[in-house]
Amino acid sequence: MESIERTITFSILDPEELSEDEKELLFAAYEARQKAQAPYSKYMVGAAIRVWNGNEIFTGCNVERASYTQTTHAEQAAIDAAVGKYGPKTKLKKIAIVSAPEGVEIPISFVEDLEWTIQFAHPFDPINQPIVPCGHCMQIIWENCQGDDLIELLAIHQSGSVTKTTIGHAFPWKFGPEDIKK
Ligand code: THU
Ligand code: ZN
Repeated sequence: MESIERTITFSILDPEELSEDEKELLFAAYEARQKAQAPYSKYMVGAAIRVWNGNEIFTGCNVERASYTQTTHAEQAAIDAAVGKYGPKTKLKKIAIVSAPEGVEIPISFVEDLEWTIQFAHPFDPINQPIVPCGHCMQIIWENCQGDDLIELLAIHQSGSVTKTTIGHAFPWKFGPEDIKK
């Protein structure tokens, strides 16, 4: 029997290692999380994406309904907003996710001055796995990666740890648009 192995990696970043663009994206996800409508799970998620089609950031939060199964996930809302503007050729560049139970204060502080200054706390509790979207959202993200498994997933954990990985590492054996072609 032959087996094929793949290595799955992610990195924990020091706040100084984040580019301005990444800080901006994480902050947009942080702000989106504060809009979450999650009265049932009380778990609040914010997502922010950049796409290759334009420069703006699209954001989304989870939106739960009393019927439960009609919940919209944050990543899905952000991607659907981008598709609403750029159509089916929308290609993701990067996605940032900020998630934690209601009431948990994510350790990002910011000062709005002449310029944005976003300060990230140093992680006080390093974690041993990246924050990744749920399986449903992995599928949704992959649909708009146009086959590029290097699209980056950036996230901040409630401990202050910022993690980065790629869709290829987070979702290694994927089913996608190419698989249904003849
Ligand atoms: N949730 C997201 O919005 N994205 C994910 O990838 C994980 C889960 C939401 C759905 C639900 O409202 C709450 O988080 C708890 O699962
Ligand atoms: Zn999800």
